[in-house]
Amino acid sequence: MRIERLIREEIIGQRAYDVEDVSCPVKLDANESPYGVPAELASDLMERLAAVPLNRYPEAGSMRLRERYAAFFGVPPEGLIIGNGSDELIALLCAALATPGSSVVVPAPTFVMYRIIAQNSGQRVIEVPLGPDHDLGEAFLAAVVSKRPALVFLSYPNNPTGNCFDRDRIIEIIEAAEGLVVVDEAYFPFCGKTFIPLLGRYENLVILRTLSKLGLAAARVGFLMGSPLLVRELDKVRLPYNVNALSQVVAAFYLDHEAAFREGARAVVAARGEVFGALAQTKGVRPFPSEANFIFFTCDFDTHGLYRRLIEGGVLVRSFHAVPSLRNAMRVTIGSPQENRRFIDAFQGELNP
Ligand SMILES: Cc1ncc(COP(=O)(O)O)c(C=O)c1O
Repeated sequence: MRIERLIREEIIGQRAYDVEDVSCPVKLDANESPYGVPAELASDLMERLAAVPLNRYPEAGSMRLRERYAAFFGVPPEGLIIGNGSDELIALLCAALATPGSSVVVPAPTFVMYRIIAQNSGQRVIEVPLGPDHDLGEAFLAAVVSKRPALVFLSYPNNPTGNCFDRDRIIEIIEAAEGLVVVDEAYFPFCGKTFIPLLGRYENLVILRTLSKLGLAAARVGFLMGSPLLVRELDKVRLPYNVNALSQVVAAFYLDHEAAFREGARAVVAARGEVFGALAQTKGVRPFPSEANFIFFTCDFDTHGLYRRLIEGGVLVRSFHAVPSLRNAMRVTIGSPQENRRFIDAFQGELNP
């Protein structure tokens, strides 16, 4: 028996999600927060975690957390579902909406998991290139109208380009779409722009949020908000204990100390301008303005060697050399002031030895 024959074609054709396994002291490749749990709060969290009865299953469906987060986001509890990271919620959407021949429309470039998860669930993925300003052009709207996808995924701000797409264009897309339009607000803490107030107006609008960019990536907690009818169906696809008990405690802890975590995001936003300025002053480098916790930049030289030399110098960034349309493009996450300085020094040192 050949195992490959048993596996679906679209899965065999893929490469596994490539998380670079490089350990570097300065890790600026994954859009994480440089700040974890504030030191003065660590013992409170440890006590709560120690009290978790590990012999028991977690609360199924994270219902108490749903109530609290619904109040926090200002949505009805029936319109919110919590996932093992927003990745899981993307997977629930794709699993629930995949029908024979159904498709997903995404911009290119964007967060790669939309494509990977959609393909895994058997959907056809239609990628529409962004315009030169990294915004959604007429072609995107036209694809939504003509291909009638089951799902459209929009990262707002977009990973990796860092910009928020034009708001009116997104509304046009929501109004034109026959399927769901998912506005992924993973980077909301760094821009403060949201579509939540429009949830009541558009039944096909879905919003994603996550704790991953706020210093709690290890806990894997994400949120989906949308029509209660949709949430009811997604709850049938969700595994009963999808958010483990320790992560549920972390998510409750976050809400109790939300202001302290927001401080970390504010520090990242404050540091973003400095990294942008340093890149802009580097010859042959073009950074793009960012509303997220990272900066996307293109170089007019081959970046692959530079990427490797940065790693040797202890600095890991994201390189897109393997993506033909993004050759010589890179993305750097905003870290702590010390990490940013190390990145800038290493980057400029490599370019002007
Ligand atoms: C746009 C976007 N959405 C979602 C995620 C992942 O979120 P989570 O960690 O909650 O699965 C990322 C991570 O980089 C992202 O860039």
